[in-house]
Amino acid sequence: MDKHAFYQQAVQCVEAEIDFVTETFQQLRCRPAVSLREDFCGTAQTTCEWVARDSNNLGYAVDFDPLVLQWGEQNNVSRLTPEQQQRIHLINEDVLTVQTAPMDMVLAMNFSYFIFMTRADMRCYFQSVYQSLAGDGVFFLDAFGGYEAAKELTEERVCDGFTYIWEQATFNPINSQMQCYIHFITDEGVRMDQAFSYHWRLWTLPEISELLTESGFAQVDVYWEGTDKKTGEGNDVYTASQQGTADAGWVCYIVAQK
Ligand SMILES: C[S@@+](CC[C@H](N)C(=O)[O-])C[C@H]1O[C@@H](n2cnc3c(N)ncnc32)[C@H](O)[C@@H]1O
Repeated sequence: MDKHAFYQQAVQCVEAEIDFVTETFQQLRCRPAVSLREDFCGTAQTTCEWVARDSNNLGYAVDFDPLVLQWGEQNNVSRLTPEQQQRIHLINEDVLTVQTAPMDMVLAMNFSYFIFMTRADMRCYFQSVYQSLAGDGVFFLDAFGGYEAAKELTEERVCDGFTYIWEQATFNPINSQMQCYIHFITDEGVRMDQAFSYHWRLWTLPEISELLTESGFAQVDVYWEGTDKKTGEGNDVYTASQQGTADAGWVCYIVAQK
C-alpha cells in the first residue's frame, strides 16, 4: 500500500499532459520545446515522461519535500535509461526561490499553485516563473472550477486494486479557502485516510489571468475542453477559447506566453 503509487494511478495522466504542452508550444512558437521545468513536481512523473519522449529533451523537477523526490527517484527516475537519467534533474527547493537556466516551458499542474492565498503571493510566484523562462518561453497551468468546486462533497472512483476518494471537506466563501483530502481504501478494506491534504484558495480564471498579465506575460489564454457530440462529455481536446460552459465541474489549461 503506497500512497504515491495510488496517486499516480488515480490522479495523473502524464502522457496527455505532455502531449498538450508539446503540441501547444510547437503551435505557438513554430519550434519544438527542449527544456521543461515541472514546479510542485511531487514524484516527477511528468518530467520523466518528458525526458523519455525525445533524446533532446531536458527536464527539471522542483519540489520542496525531499521525501516525495526520493520516492520519485527510486520509482520513476530509476525506470529511465541511463541516457535519459542524464537529462533529468530533481531539485529540492521552493518554487518561489529556485534558480534554473532559462526554460522553454514551466508547468504548474494539478492546481498546486492554489496554495498561494493572496494576490501578492500569487504575483510573486508568477513573476519568478516569468523570470525563469527563455525569451519565447511559455508557462502552462491547469485550473478547476464550476459550481460544485465550491461545495463540501465527497466523490469516489474505483481504480485497479483500490478506491480513490476526493473530499472537499470545507469551503469558506468569505476568503474562498478550502480544505481537501485524498483518501484511499484498498480492495481488501484497508483505509488510508487523509493520504494527501490540500489547503487551497479556489481562484477564478479571471483572477489568474489578470495576475499573469500583471506579472508580465504578453498573452494569456484559457484552453477549454471540447465536447464529444455522441456522449455530451469532455473529449480531452483543449483549445484556446473565449467562452466556457457553466458546468458543475470543469478542468482547463491556462497558457501564458512570455
Ligand atoms: C498536488 S502535489 C502535485 C504533484 C504533481 N505535480 C501532479 O501534477 O500531480 C503538490 C506538490 O507541491 C509541493 N509543494 C508545495 N508547495 C511548494 C513550494 N512552495 N515549493 C516547492 N514544492 C512545493 C508539495 O511538496 C507536493 O509534492
